[in-house]
Amino acid sequence: MLEKVDILLDEVAKFTATDLNQVEEFRIRLLGKKGEITALMSDFRNVPNEQKKEFGQKLNTLKTAALEKVNEIKDSLESSSTSNKEKQDLTRPAEYTPLGARHPLSVVRKEILDIFTRIGFSISEGPEIEDDFHNFTALNFPPEHPARDMQDTFFIDDEIALRTHTSSVQVRVMENSTPPIRTVSPGRVFRNEAISARAHCIFHQVEGLYIDKGVSFADLKQTLLYFAKEMFGENTEIRLRPSYFPFTEPSAEVDVSCQICNGKGCNVCKHTGFLEIMGCGMVDPNVLENCGIDSTVYSGFAFGMGIERITMLKYQINDLRHFFENDLRFLNQFKSAY
Ligand code: PHE
Repeated sequence: MLEKVDILLDEVAKFTATDLNQVEEFRIRLLGKKGEITALMSDFRNVPNEQKKEFGQKLNTLKTAALEKVNEIKDSLESSSTSNKEKQDLTRPAEYTPLGARHPLSVVRKEILDIFTRIGFSISEGPEIEDDFHNFTALNFPPEHPARDMQDTFFIDDEIALRTHTSSVQVRVMENSTPPIRTVSPGRVFRNEAISARAHCIFHQVEGLYIDKGVSFADLKQTLLYFAKEMFGENTEIRLRPSYFPFTEPSAEVDVSCQICNGKGCNVCKHTGFLEIMGCGMVDPNVLENCGIDSTVYSGFAFGMGIERITMLKYQINDLRHFFENDLRFLNQFKSAY
């Protein structure tokens, strides 16, 4: 019987076939219900005990080899038969592959960062989940400030919240470096607001910080004018209105001349000729001290803008929600932007 197994092993090794019928015949002859291997299997109990081990192992090898051979030839016959049927036509025009586009917020974010890196600002990023010290206390927010209210800020616990601005990143930069500091901090920020055409609970900011000896309000104004002209065009004008932020003193709100009516007055600028784009001011000495910087030696300015707002003005988009809905009819309009 051992010889029989050897003969069959040899046969399996040599077997080839040119069509599927031959493979099936071969399978039935060896592995079918009345097949030769099946017969050997049932003869196994008649094998003398001392030969059982050797015979069993050989028989198993044979069975596996036969199964593998059948499957292998079947596979190769099947795949070659399909490729024969569908002869490839190499002259056919290629299928159109639609290209994606950058999100308008990414386009404008890059543009803002490019403008500031051209005049020596570095880019700094920090955590979106922030502690009270970096988001509020270091920035001179008094304990009872309304921004610390659950209604404005997403708190995780008493100490930890989702950052409400990227000023928190600038606190980290000030703590970890010595002036001169020139940096812009882009990132996502979170505020507990109802979603509407003008507000969203998630939006994007770029905030800037410049600290050195003798930095003045004139430096701030010139930097912002340069930014506005680079972003909106050479003829753009800016206007600063007094405002209040806990971390800057004095503080101002920055407006740019309306891009739609060129400052003449229209519906978009509510006939004022100007549109608000950011907040700014001279860094409050308390903030410098909180971050380990000697306020008798150094002074600095800071500013912060929403990327959504800049993008809406630049591309005349009238609803903030477009940025988050991922409607391709909206996104595809930015294909040519880089
Ligand atoms: N952090 C302010 C905000 O989120 C913006 C700002 C930054 C204002 C720096 C003044 C100076 O609204």
